[in-house]
Amino acid sequence: MKKTFRILLTATAIAYGGYAHGQTDQTQNKWLAKATDVIAYQLKQASNKYKPGKNPRSTNPDGSVRLVNYRDWTTGFFPGSLWYGYELTGDKGLAEQAKRFTLALDSARYIKDTHDLGFMLYCSYGNAYRITGDKAYLPALADGANHLYQRFDNKVGAIRSWDFSWWHFPVIIDNMMNLEYLYWASKQFNQPSYTVAANSHALTTIKNHFRKDFSSYHVVDYDPKTGKVLAKRTHQGVTDESAWARGQAWALYGYAMCYENTKNPAFLTQAEQVAKFIMNHPRMPKDKVPVWDFDVHNALDVEEKAPRDASAAAIMASALLNLSTQVKNGQKYFNYAEEMLQSLSSDNYLAKAGENNFFILKHSVGAFLYNSEIDTPLDYADYYYLEALKRYIAIKGQNKPAKK
Ligand code: GLY
Repeated sequence: MKKTFRILLTATAIAYGGYAHGQTDQTQNKWLAKATDVIAYQLKQASNKYKPGKNPRSTNPDGSVRLVNYRDWTTGFFPGSLWYGYELTGDKGLAEQAKRFTLALDSARYIKDTHDLGFMLYCSYGNAYRITGDKAYLPALADGANHLYQRFDNKVGAIRSWDFSWWHFPVIIDNMMNLEYLYWASKQFNQPSYTVAANSHALTTIKNHFRKDFSSYHVVDYDPKTGKVLAKRTHQGVTDESAWARGQAWALYGYAMCYENTKNPAFLTQAEQVAKFIMNHPRMPKDKVPVWDFDVHNALDVEEKAPRDASAAAIMASALLNLSTQVKNGQKYFNYAEEMLQSLSSDNYLAKAGENNFFILKHSVGAFLYNSEIDTPLDYADYYYLEALKRYIAIKGQNKPAKK
């Protein structure tokens, strides 16, 4: 653990004296160093305890771990966390474990009935290929991207999210995340139509998913025969008209990522407006870790008791760090993300080494109204927290303020 610790500190040390604002070296050293210790320990223990193909997703109400197989939408996050853990700590043992847990998801490449293929394959195989350059990871990535692209409908101008239930052609805001896989695959496999589909999806979503205040609906149901909007609903928010916290995070991350890939100014405007909604929200708590729905107080009258969603904060932090590097005045996004990361790295949210079923963060919410995963760790909270830390260190390491 001592060795890995040194590698992280070397990376952060490059930063000193560089970035315009942010914390003093000493303060930063402390919370990052502590977080890295916990990350290194938890990931090592988890990868020894759990078996490839049965990935840890969350904690059951009885305290036991909830394990999922290759079909679960979250299945790519644990291998992805191991890859990020390897990058953050330099521990080669984590890279070996990451490879085992990634290759156990091979069957996901044949799945056709969900948009979640980006979460499942790009977070696992995508990171594996990015880090190792090993072409053995490419066939699964090619199949999965093709199956995601096949879900695009020209009439609607979007990718269909789900095949279950009574929906006609449901598109959820979460779907924005999986466009990253299509942008990458478009270049990697020379498939320009993937980029066309991703751009169309993002533009259709700007048109139909957002309210005047730039908060997002969760689900828009389209008529596949005409492409017209049939309904705007929620699935995991407190009401159809509420701002489900993770949905706002997916929107922010999605448009910052779309701009990064295309430089289309419409995507940047959308990302900045969503960021404004989140950062100026009067019910964002002082520690900047939101309650699971910004409007929970209206519907349930339980604001005081409403659980926080660390997963939403982790996704927002990672998205804001990305955004901070793409605009002239990125410092405000960087500072906000830094505060979020510091909160998540405090004892309030960061697990103690050896506890929390070896997850890294505590206190997330999966689906409150379904009584599912309330105030538990979640594999995607850990994944985006690690990604955000990696981005944070990289920006600090650039030793200069955000460009353009
Ligand atoms: N993509 C499902 C969720 O955010 O819960």
